[in-house]
Amino acid sequence: MEGKTAGRLAEKPEILFVTGNGHKFREAESILKHFGVNISHKNLHLEEMRSDSVEEIARASALDAYAKAGVPLFVEDSGLFIPSLGGFPGAYSAWAFGKIGNAGILKLAAGSVAEFRAAIAYADENGAKTFTGIVKGRISDEIRGNEGFGYDPIFIPDKFAGVRHSGEKTFAEVPEMKAALSHRKRALEEFGKYIKQR
Ligand code: IMP
Repeated sequence: MEGKTAGRLAEKPEILFVTGNGHKFREAESILKHFGVNISHKNLHLEEMRSDSVEEIARASALDAYAKAGVPLFVEDSGLFIPSLGGFPGAYSAWAFGKIGNAGILKLAAGSVAEFRAAIAYADENGAKTFTGIVKGRISDEIRGNEGFGYDPIFIPDKFAGVRHSGEKTFAEVPEMKAALSHRKRALEEFGKYIKQR
């Protein structure tokens, strides 16, 4: 059975996902396989432009990665945006996480409206194409849950029709809720549809 699956996937296009984040890779792998897209992993040192837009950052990174690797590939850029903090941490999400962590964000914005944004940028010989996803929610009052990564333990998504467990739980408490409605899942699905129909 496993051999059969591997054989079938081997006929599908394999696309490189350039990322240094193993969590992002596993999330992408499990979503894109539903579109028959097989991915491999590589970490490259990329120039990251400064912008408030994850889409612009992803596009520039994908073009830089393609210039270096020369094979069809995609990158992902994402962040947590809190309107009451002027969008912070936004494009600085990874940096802010390292500096102040979830406890620091709670001090600044517990209970505030927030959203995660993700952008996938795919690059090949025709240039770059981007796909975006957003999940709206709010910052919890305390750190809860052990699954996922980054800001998952302080992010409570809004209720979403058809998805169990939404309400008061964080992404880190209910990983299946994250898998069902995350910003990354939404962006990856748009990307998967595009690759499938080419
Ligand atoms: P970058 O896209 O690698 O520049 O980093 C985005 C940062 O945003 C990550 O390091 C996390 O801190 C945060 N982030 C992005 N997506 C998620 C997510 O799905 N859960 C929790 N934190 C995330």
